[in-house]
Amino acid sequence: MSDYDYIPKLYDVHYDAPETDRQSDEFFWATVGGCKQRFNIHDYATLYRIPWLYDIALYHNLVCRTPTEMSAAIDKVWAAAGVDRSGLRALELGAGSGAFGHELRHTLRIPHLEAIDICPEAAEAANRDRAGLYDAYHIDDLTNLSPAAETTLRKAKFNVVAMASATGWGNHIPLAGFETSFDLLIPGGWYIFHVKPNDPDPECIELCAWVADKVNNGALKQAYRGSHFHRKSSNGSDIYYDVVVGVKQ
Ligand SMILES: C[S@@+](CC[C@H](N)C(=O)[O-])C[C@H]1O[C@@H](n2cnc3c(N)ncnc32)[C@H](O)[C@@H]1O
Repeated sequence: MSDYDYIPKLYDVHYDAPETDRQSDEFFWATVGGCKQRFNIHDYATLYRIPWLYDIALYHNLVCRTPTEMSAAIDKVWAAAGVDRSGLRALELGAGSGAFGHELRHTLRIPHLEAIDICPEAAEAANRDRAGLYDAYHIDDLTNLSPAAETTLRKAKFNVVAMASATGWGNHIPLAGFETSFDLLIPGGWYIFHVKPNDPDPECIELCAWVADKVNNGALKQAYRGSHFHRKSSNGSDIYYDVVVGVKQ
């Protein structure tokens, strides 16, 4: 039994060997509606249009374990800190189809959970495959929020801002988006960040420096940092990311 057995096994998914080591250059084959097609793992809009396809390709084929790894780490930190979860109000960044949201809601028992993603198909996938998971799903660019979204998100007074698997590689949330998300969190709130250390990707380097700076200048009090298995690469190697759980000062 795996914690991901609730995701159906469909489409006979199998991967191509990657042409480079870049995580964004992985491709797989899937048979959808009788037609065998090739997909890029970072072509989110296309993947989210097909029920469960992103989840199958990530959580079954590449055994991505980030949602459960992160929720287990957060659970320990909150248990040790005696956090009263009944008052938690969370915003999940780059929420996609909702696999991490599933853990935030069902494992960590966060009573109020909102999501934001730049991609309209992400909200469609979450609402279709995990109906009722989020209290609200905002479709907006974290680097350039619409005035209406900004007002709504500020009013929500989030005391948790959490993100899994949405840093780096040129098509995830850029630095400016994380700065905005940090600003949306109330002081004393939990900031939960996920980043790949020691990778030559310029965005990963920049984001590692950004979170280190937040800790060093006292804006974020780090309660936990640990290396966790993220997923297999399509060439079979293991990919690890750092999970950071901190409190905004
Ligand atoms: C790897 S996927 C999401 C994975 C998801 N967190 C999960 O647990 O399965 C990264 C997401 O970041 C979103 N994203 C990229 N740039 C963004 C931006 N500027 N603002 C908001 N979301 C963004 C993408 O649309 C994509 O859905």
